[in-house]
Amino acid sequence: MVLVSAKEMIDKAHAGHYAIPAFNTNNLEWTKCILKACEESKSPVIIQASEGAAKYMGGYKMVVDMVRDLHDSMGITIPVALHLDHGTYEGAKACIEAGFTSVMFDGSHYDIEENIEKSKEIIALAHSVGVSVECEVGGIGGVEDGVASNGELADPAECKAVADLGVDFLAAGIGNIHGKYPANWAGLNFERLNEINEAVNGKPLVLHGGSGIPFEQTSKSIEMGVSKINVNTELQLVFADATRKYIEAGKDIEGKGYDPRKLLKPGCDAIVAKAKELIKAFGSEGKAE
Ligand code: 13P
Repeated sequence: MVLVSAKEMIDKAHAGHYAIPAFNTNNLEWTKCILKACEESKSPVIIQASEGAAKYMGGYKMVVDMVRDLHDSMGITIPVALHLDHGTYEGAKACIEAGFTSVMFDGSHYDIEENIEKSKEIIALAHSVGVSVECEVGGIGGVEDGVASNGELADPAECKAVADLGVDFLAAGIGNIHGKYPANWAGLNFERLNEINEAVNGKPLVLHGGSGIPFEQTSKSIEMGVSKINVNTELQLVFADATRKYIEAGKDIEGKGYDPRKLLKPGCDAIVAKAKELIKAFGSEGKAE
């Protein structure tokens, strides 16, 4: 089976009150681990790459080829979408061309008129070739690919305006932050999420900054219309932690412990274990059966 658009899996998740995990990939190991965890958990998955991560990996075409080839060689049976995370106008167009099956156009830093204008163009272009689209209203806190945002709460009327353009799913700031949550974080703003969910009239919502949000809060957000949860930092943290322990225990200097296949294994195993835990928490386990 080839890679699929994210629309059908997200619509099903929305109707069934669970969320599709959208894991950011950073390299070959990440991609293999994400596919392994999701296949073993029988969960549909969105593998996503930011423009910076795609550049690091060798470009959009390289990412498309890597995901397609691993999908084939690993005998993957679950639905897999390849999505551009926080795309620019040019990036979204380039990814549609390169073979991504889903793109995010993040026009949240433009004024709302310009965001609407550009979102509309990307939606028309993507839909003409069966690619799903995510747009964003209101910033997400933290730093993503070097771009800082103050994490404003999205305006429900603006969310409605973008939802009405026919976008497939919508990212809206509700107090969520990319990266680690600070100890004094106020939590997700459910009052605002409720207002947005009512305003967009059943459009699936996306929760960015899915790393480290307490389970009760992710569950509640899913009940209130969130159907895609983005996770990057959490997998990076478990990978780094397991790798540090391996090196601190001196295992890299025992025998051939420096061989990357050995050196990276504890980190990879940690990614698979954490991804499986998140799949359970988001309720998508078994949904690809
Ligand atoms: P985290 O790195 O906080 O998990 O956020 C990921 C994300 O939202 C990607 O868009």
